[in-house]
Amino acid sequence: MLELDDLCKYFDGIRAVDGLSLKIERGEVFGLIGPNGSGKSTTVNLICGVFPATRGTVTLAGRNLGGLPPHRRLNAGISRTFQNIRLFGELTVWQNLWIARRDAPGEETGFMKNWFGSSARIREAIDETLEFAGLAGRANDLAQNLAFGEQRRLELARAVSARPQLILLDEPAAGMNREEVEDLKQRILTLKNSGITVLLVEHVMELVMGVTDRIAVLNFGKRIALGTPGEIQGNDAVREAYLGSPDVDIAEGSHHA
Ligand SMILES: Nc1ncnc2c1ncn2[C@@H]1O[C@H](COP(=O)(O)OP(=O)(O)O)[C@@H](O)[C@H]1O
Ligand SMILES: [Mg+2]
Repeated sequence: MLELDDLCKYFDGIRAVDGLSLKIERGEVFGLIGPNGSGKSTTVNLICGVFPATRGTVTLAGRNLGGLPPHRRLNAGISRTFQNIRLFGELTVWQNLWIARRDAPGEETGFMKNWFGSSARIREAIDETLEFAGLAGRANDLAQNLAFGEQRRLELARAVSARPQLILLDEPAAGMNREEVEDLKQRILTLKNSGITVLLVEHVMELVMGVTDRIAVLNFGKRIALGTPGEIQGNDAVREAYLGSPDVDIAEGSHHA
């Protein structure tokens, strides 16, 4: 469903992404891992259209996205979360989702109509998303008053609200405790079961290894490995790139930063 072909992004001489080719299948949870600075977030930004590629193409369901700005890629079915939480702190949880939803494709987008309420269907969908994110009881609270874990869940809910075909998660487990990571894992599997394709960028290995179907490993902007979680854990080149030694078990290196 998503294809990257010879994708490159150079920043004044830094080859952040350097000839990356990948195919992500519909319905799969695909992991993207690699040391800090290996080009993971840049790859996500290229897929979302934050900046243009230096070279190469991003194709979604056969459609070349080259030149499309982020909001048009959102309409094409790609939504994302950010490595650092970005929410509207002075709006309620419910309002944050309403805003995220407003731009969704095929939606009746009349502002007055949506806001003043003939759209029971939209309200229902938002309530459903709140339920998915475990935030049903927080609908009327300001986003800034949520606990850290809840804010992360709201970020995820916001990305889901746009009704994507493909959702990009950039380090969603950063700063989470074990229990929150397990909880996130279940929510990612729920997304998968509902037919959404997931690209997961993550350092927390217990999450990556526990939830993905396949993993690509980046180092210096290049793909150095591709395979199932089991294959990746057994790959010497990956261990070396990741932790500087082929003797380290990367399944244990769960909080490598
Ligand atoms: N906007 C930017 N301008 C200049 N250099 C950047 C920019 N974004 C990322 N880089 C550089 O590109 C490389 C890859 O960064 P990034 O994609 O953020 O890595 P990762 O997410 O894997 O940690 C790093 O060397 C980083 O400093
Ligand atoms: Mg990053």
